[in-house]
Amino acid sequence: MLNGAIRRAWGALALAVFGLLSFPAAGQVMPEGPILAAADLRAGQDLSGQWNWSIDPYRDGLAGFHGGEAGPSQRRHADADVANLRRADPLALFEYDMDAAPVAMLPASWLTHSPQMRHYQGLVWYQRRFDAVIDPASRSILRFGAANYSAEVWLNGKRLGRHEGGFTPFAFEVTGLLRARGNRLVVAVDSQRSSHDVPPPVTDWETYGGITRAVRLINLPGTFVDDAWVRLEADGRISADIRIDGVQKAGLPVRLIIPELGIDQRATTDMDGGLALRITPRKPIQRWSPDSPKLYRVEISAGEDRWHDIVGFRTLSVQGSQILLNGEPIFLRGISLHEEELGADPTRHITDAAADALLVEARDGLGANFVRLAHYPHGEPMLRAADRLGMIVWSEIPVYWRIAFDDPAVLEKTRRMLAEMILRDRNRASIALWSVGNETPIGDARNGFMARLALDVRALDPDRLVTAALLTGREMDGGRQVVTISDPLAASVDVLAVNTYFGWYGSDRLDDIGTFGWDLPIDKPFLFSEFGAGAKLGYHAEGPPQKFTEEYQADYYRATLAMAEGIPTLAGLSPWVLKDFRSPRRQLPGIQDGWNRKGLISETGERKQAFAVLAEWYAKREGTR
Ligand code: GCU
Repeated sequence: MLNGAIRRAWGALALAVFGLLSFPAAGQVMPEGPILAAADLRAGQDLSGQWNWSIDPYRDGLAGFHGGEAGPSQRRHADADVANLRRADPLALFEYDMDAAPVAMLPASWLTHSPQMRHYQGLVWYQRRFDAVIDPASRSILRFGAANYSAEVWLNGKRLGRHEGGFTPFAFEVTGLLRARGNRLVVAVDSQRSSHDVPPPVTDWETYGGITRAVRLINLPGTFVDDAWVRLEADGRISADIRIDGVQKAGLPVRLIIPELGIDQRATTDMDGGLALRITPRKPIQRWSPDSPKLYRVEISAGEDRWHDIVGFRTLSVQGSQILLNGEPIFLRGISLHEEELGADPTRHITDAAADALLVEARDGLGANFVRLAHYPHGEPMLRAADRLGMIVWSEIPVYWRIAFDDPAVLEKTRRMLAEMILRDRNRASIALWSVGNETPIGDARNGFMARLALDVRALDPDRLVTAALLTGREMDGGRQVVTISDPLAASVDVLAVNTYFGWYGSDRLDDIGTFGWDLPIDKPFLFSEFGAGAKLGYHAEGPPQKFTEEYQADYYRATLAMAEGIPTLAGLSPWVLKDFRSPRRQLPGIQDGWNRKGLISETGERKQAFAVLAEWYAKREGTR
């Protein structure tokens, strides 16, 4: 059984092996603002709704063309009522007016604000006017679920700060900055990225720039629960690591209760507002699993603050080439999916209903118990749906293909993104795997970069499994193709994973791939984290199989599944991909038209022939280990 202590030692070895000591051996990189665990369950003022928006492709609102500060005629973030100022001084020059700008309903990507925005990439200014209840006794936190790719934020003309990363939450304290009427929240969202960003400019998915998740104003007591990580340990006890923020955080009485388990624990925080509880439950725990996704309400009282989360209790580990859930081997019958709702014109706005629609199709349609939420942290609704529906999750940060691995600043921002993901979601029982990257090119800088990320995962969450989509090598051996994992990152992960496309990319014939051998380490579980073939729904061709027909995709699945059956350490698979998804790289007219067509269902949810092939294969594996 691989437990936390062994894995931490393993991580240290990996660090030494990759000479990572040259990397800044700084302490853990943390989010810059409050963590606000379970923020989505906190009462608050939802600022979804009508926002003004205004494009700024040359970023005049951020800086003048001369390089200095933006001129007064361009300062979209100023707390200025432009219409009034122009009436007061007809000679005053303004070349923007956020109050008069068009309106869009947020959260949503700007792609759907107007037809002209469909392919816009760059900077868009957003403004939300709102009234607020001012309570001098409370602290006010402005929390963004996500803004893609970077966001700079002002409230009533005061700059709050900037966040990078399009898929993780960020928050600013705005206590004392709010007014009762007419607050002016202005956000500059920029989708521009370079190879020094994560993800880099070239990905195989639509960027979906904009404010794509909820923005909420959360009022809290002066001292509140900022972080609470509650989980089941291998020894059957429940651990709770609590972090209090505020002037009264030291020596504060805290009470944790889990009513259904008869747990009612009182203790006092240390000088830093921290508290670690190890609780022996008085009643038997109904452990979380796909067959029984039991969730418990966990409540924490600290001073005036009342915090709660809805948590499943289960254990995870690896034993040889098996993944153990609650001590029992489990085979992960999975599928991959992007964060993109069903429909002909998605805008990356995943509501509870949109998340359920996707996950129920995977669970009840395919018979899946596992989803790879590619290639970046999905929103809270998706993770809460996975908890509720009993879907095991692979969650990942978008360290994807080629980024500047040799740039310490890129490592720093990636480590922060990883921490933001883990600290947001580590109470989600559904998450079993944290992936630190996808198909990243092997090299000394990259090897060190990735091994460092794996160590961060172990520091932040030693009980979950680390993985990554690794690179493979291939050679002829004894007259047949043999695939090996040639990636040094394999040493840093608990679960080996590979994306394979034999029979789609390259010249392999489907008839041959069943003969391929896989020469894999036998001491770790192995997943096919991707395989897939494109098919346009309803496209059939006469004569021999043709790529992009439904028949070819179905044949590809039969051949690849047959190959998978020959791998003794196979612990699961997450074929690419549940649903056709937008990708600007895919422009075959009449077939792709800007969509990646490897979905088993079309963008509007219609099943292709290959859907049944996978569903039948999973049906045979139901209950297998
Ligand atoms: C890659 C990559 C995916 C991509 C897929 C494809 O393996 O990880 O993001 O969409 O292949 O080519 O369709």
